[in-house]
Amino acid sequence: MTFPEAVRFLATKCGFVIPEATPGDRAAGLARDKLHQLNDFAVNYYHKLLTGGAAGKGALTYLRERGIKDNTIQSFKLGFSMPDWDAFLKAGKKAGFSTENMQEGGFVLESRNRPGTIYDRFRSRVMFPIFDARGEPIGFGGRILGSDSDIKYMNSPETPVYHKSRSIYNLNLAKEAIRKEGRAILAEGYMDVIACFQAGTHNIVASLGTSLSEGHVSLIKRYTNEVIIAYDSDSAGTAATSRGLDLLVKGGLRVRMLNLPSGKDPDDFVRENGVDSLRALISGAVDLVDYKLDRIQEQVDVNSAEGKKRTVQALVATLANLNNQVEKSEHVKKCAERLNVEEDYIWQQLDEAGSGKRVRRSTQPTIKSTTKLSARESIERLLLECLIQYPHFITRAKSQITKDDFTNSGHAELAEILWASTDLEEGGLDLGNLINRCISKEARDIISRLILQKSSPPNGEAAFSGCIRKIREYREREYRRSVLKENSGDSLSMARQLMEDLRRRTKPNTDNA
Ligand code: CTP
Ligand code: MN
Repeated sequence: MTFPEAVRFLATKCGFVIPEATPGDRAAGLARDKLHQLNDFAVNYYHKLLTGGAAGKGALTYLRERGIKDNTIQSFKLGFSMPDWDAFLKAGKKAGFSTENMQEGGFVLESRNRPGTIYDRFRSRVMFPIFDARGEPIGFGGRILGSDSDIKYMNSPETPVYHKSRSIYNLNLAKEAIRKEGRAILAEGYMDVIACFQAGTHNIVASLGTSLSEGHVSLIKRYTNEVIIAYDSDSAGTAATSRGLDLLVKGGLRVRMLNLPSGKDPDDFVRENGVDSLRALISGAVDLVDYKLDRIQEQVDVNSAEGKKRTVQALVATLANLNNQVEKSEHVKKCAERLNVEEDYIWQQLDEAGSGKRVRRSTQPTIKSTTKLSARESIERLLLECLIQYPHFITRAKSQITKDDFTNSGHAELAEILWASTDLEEGGLDLGNLINRCISKEARDIISRLILQKSSPPNGEAAFSGCIRKIREYREREYRRSVLKENSGDSLSMARQLMEDLRRRTKPNTDNA
C-alpha cells in the first residue's frame, strides 16, 4: 500500500473519515475504490456462476476432474465466465458499474473491428481471482476448459489496482504459513498453487508466468528470507528465469531450487506422487549456486581449462549478487572444490565483475596444487600446518631447522615469516597479519588453505617431532650426498669434512647453516 492508502485503510477500520489531500488524490482514490468494488462484484458473480447452477456445470466437472475439491473452490473463490459476448457487461451495468469502470478494470473491451461495440474479455473460462496480500481482489486469470487451440490463459491487464510486477498470487492465504515455515515456495501457475495448497503445503505462491521483478522481491521479503523455486524444468532453465532468480539473490533472499522431474509442474507432481513426496522434494531443494553448477556440468566439460573458465563465468553472475560475504565465501569455496580450481581464480573473476572486495592475483584457472606435492614437501606442509595450529612449537622448530631446509619456495617463505613472528608470547598467531606478510602467491595460498583446513593434527607433539626428525633426515641424506660428490669418493677426506661440519654445527652460538 502507498502511505495514503494505508492511512485510509486504517481509518476506515477504526470508523472515521479523513479528508483527501488534493482533488487529484481524491479522484484517484475514488477510482481505485470503485475498481476494488468492481473486482469484488466480479469475484462473487463468477463464483456464483460456477457453483450455483447449470451454467457452470462443465467448468465444475473440469475442476473436479483435475482433483480440485469443493472447499478449495470456496477458499480460492474460483469462478466461471459465461460463453456470451456481453454477459458480464450486462450484469455489471445492472449492479451500477459504468462501461468505463468495467473497461478500466479490464473486464470488457472495445471491439477493434467494430468501434463502439463493447464485449467481455473473459468468456467460457474457469476464473481465478487474484487477491493482494490483504485479500482485496485486484484482477483475474481465466483458463479455457480443456486444451483447445485457443489461448490457454486470459489475464486482466494492468489497471490502477493491478500491477503485475508487484503482485504475487495467493500471498493472502499463504502469508501466515510463509512466516511460520520461514520460506515461500514460488511456483508459476494458478493450478500449481491451488493443488499444492489443497494438499497441505500452504506456503505456496505464484508469479503467474511474468518474469520476476524488484517489486516481487521486496514483496516477498516482507514475509521471509528464503524462496524455493518450484518451476518446471523447462522454465527454470530460461535466461529470463535466471535473471529473475539473480534478482532474488540480489535482494538478499536465499534461493533454492526444487528438483521436479522433467516436464512436470508442481500440480502434476503432487497429483501423481502425493504430498509426502512433495515435502521430501522440498526438503531436498538445492541451493541456486549448486543448481546452476549441476546444470552447467551437464553441458560443459568442467575438466578442461576452457570448461572451468566458462563455468566460473556463468556462476559469477549469481555469486556477484550475494551481499552476505560469509555466504559468498562459502559458495566460492564450494565452487572451487567442485571445479577443482583455486578459490583465488573465482575471486578474481568476481573482482572483475565489481563484486569481489578482496585482492586477488591469478588470472587463469589454476588447478589446486595440493595433489602434486612431493613426499618431502608434504612433510614440510604438515610441519607448517602444525606450527600454525600450535605456535608454541615455533621456538623449538627454529632451534632445529632453518628456512633452507624447506625445498618448496612457498614453504621456505612461510617458515621465514613464522621464524620472525613476534606475537608468539601473546598466545597465538595473528593469521590475518601472517597472510599480509606473505609476498609470493604460493605462500598466501598455502596459508589460506591451512586456515580453511580446520582439522588439526590429532597429536600435535607427535606430528611436530615426527616432521622435524624427517626433515633432518632428508637434510643429512642430502648433505652426505653433496659431500660424496665434492670429494669424488675419497673416503678419508670425506670423513674429515663430515667431522668438521658436525663439530661446527653442534658448537653453541655458531651459525648452523
Ligand atoms: N500463463 C498465462 N498465459 C498463458 C500461459 C500461461 O498467463 N497463455 C500463466 C498463468 O498464470 C499460468 C502460468 O503462466 O498459470 C503457468 O503456465 P502453464 O505452466 O502453461 O500453466 P499451468 O498453470 O500449468 O496451467 P494448467 O495446468 O491449467 O495447464
Ligand atoms: Mn499445469
